[in-house]
Amino acid sequence: TMLILSPSILSADFANLGRDVARAAAAGAEYIHIDVMDGHFVPNYALSPCTMRDIAKVSSTAMDVHLMVDNPDSYISAFADAGASIITPHLETLTHPIRTLKLIRSLGKKAGIAINPATDIAPLAYMTDFVDLVCVMTVDPGFAGQQMIPSAIDKIAKVRSLFSQAGRKVDIMVDGHVETETAPKMVAAGANVLVMGSSGLFHHEPRDYKRTIDFFKNL
Ligand code: DX5
Ligand code: ZN
Repeated sequence: TMLILSPSILSADFANLGRDVARAAAAGAEYIHIDVMDGHFVPNYALSPCTMRDIAKVSSTAMDVHLMVDNPDSYISAFADAGASIITPHLETLTHPIRTLKLIRSLGKKAGIAINPATDIAPLAYMTDFVDLVCVMTVDPGFAGQQMIPSAIDKIAKVRSLFSQAGRKVDIMVDGHVETETAPKMVAAGANVLVMGSSGLFHHEPRDYKRTIDFFKNL
């Protein structure tokens, strides 16, 4: 089965955002990964519904929104309106995760849930019916260009088996340091959606994006 690629435009050139989104889509990326940071849940700021609305004007590529923000319930409808296809808040920010997942689906979007490297996956067992995608963070979120945390590989396999045991299909996204050394292990463990950031895609020359994306898709 083919993998799904989602370039993280956090690592694009913001002075040429439309151009970089178009290049990623032309190279065959299925999604555009939108990293939203509030300077509170993570020690950095990035992206917003405004940026997404501008991207939606020039691109029809589906946007997957990674919400690295506290109190995500207050912002989910704004991201839905701005053109999100998948909305993925962090488990660590949710007091009532099932309520939030239902809210996302009620807006006609796919419901994702992201989990930090040191967060236990056990609560996911109680939400399998409400989740379309699990984003297993392979670095602590907040910055591009970090090293993979090795225990993340085993966690991917555990999430995959937790959902199979529940008889549920789910997309497993990996986010952080996805590159030629790490991605094969992530995929072997059960990941099927790869976030391509500074390490896997954007350090290449744009003319090599197609070759790079083909390489990862066919892992
Ligand atoms: C991490 C972000 C990622 C990051 C991944 O906080 O959510 O999307 O940009 O890209 P890398 O690790 O390859 O730079
Ligand atoms: Zn991300």
